[in-house]
Amino acid sequence: MALVNTDLGKALPLIASGKVRELYDVDAKTLLFVATDRISAYDVVMKNGVPDKGLILTLITAHWFEYLRKCHPDLRTHFISLELPPTVPQQLVPQLKGRSMLVRKYKVFPVEAIVRGYITGSAWSSYKKTGEVNGKKLPEGLQESQELPEPIYTPSTKAELGQHDENISTEQAEQIVGAKYAKRIEDLALKIYKTARDYAKEKGIIIADTKFEFGLDEETDEVVLIDEVLTPDSSRFWSKATYTIGQGQDSFDKQFLRDWLTKNGLKGQDDVTMPPDVVEATRAKYMEAFKILTGKTLDQTLQELK
Ligand SMILES: Nc1ncnc2c1ncn2[C@@H]1O[C@H](COP(=O)(O)OP(=O)(O)O)[C@@H](O)[C@H]1O
Ligand SMILES: [Mg+2]
Repeated sequence: MALVNTDLGKALPLIASGKVRELYDVDAKTLLFVATDRISAYDVVMKNGVPDKGLILTLITAHWFEYLRKCHPDLRTHFISLELPPTVPQQLVPQLKGRSMLVRKYKVFPVEAIVRGYITGSAWSSYKKTGEVNGKKLPEGLQESQELPEPIYTPSTKAELGQHDENISTEQAEQIVGAKYAKRIEDLALKIYKTARDYAKEKGIIIADTKFEFGLDEETDEVVLIDEVLTPDSSRFWSKATYTIGQGQDSFDKQFLRDWLTKNGLKGQDDVTMPPDVVEATRAKYMEAFKILTGKTLDQTLQELK
């Protein structure tokens, strides 16, 4: 069964609900960050979910936090633990364990810190028209899906629910968050992307691009990595084995769903229910990404959590 909504009753107050996550208040400084099994495509959330997807997203994120901490001991993240607070009633533990993360609450910078190592999607469309991406000139003669000489930082606005994010230049990002923080966000995003790109490539996954979010620790004035990181939902993962330059690539995870929506004229529509074969194929891809990136099955990882 997919978990599409959570309900902690009176145990903890719900403070926000995004496309995928529900955020509960634990105390003044702490949140319980719960990933449901909801899935969105073309910015619309499906009516039914993909069983275990929330577990996969949370545990991939936790895996990356651990790996990144090893590579960059100075990196600050919002991660506290995969424990549940004692106020969560015992009967809800099976539902929430593994998909929930205790995190430190921060003031979220209202930009999406996108890094692209390969040219695809909206960046490819823009490059074909103007030779530029987010106001940055790129070398001539790039082919679709080609690896860029160096990863580029292409921030976007962080849209309210139901709105679309808008690409912005680095100058606009500076205006939104201030020059000092904009530079730190850009440097951190590029550094983290490169570390993850190398790790994933070795294991057979190309991280074509990814989106990070950062928050401000107002007590220490530090920029902190928050949200989910380097998951199939926040990144474009391609299989290294089938990667072919000069054409679009199948995304690792949502291709079945996107193809099915397009074929059935449902792209962008609300209240769509996915048929069982689309759910199962999608679930299998998330599982595969999990296994490749963490080197373990989901069951093994869940066992270790107990
Ligand atoms: N440490 C944190 N403190 C406060 N807010 C956070 C933190 N980490 C992530 N968030 C916010 O939690 C939300 C995550 O929910 P999600 O369902 O992924 O939302 P979205 O639909 O915006 O992607 C995002 O709005 C993100 O900015
Ligand atoms: Mg999100």
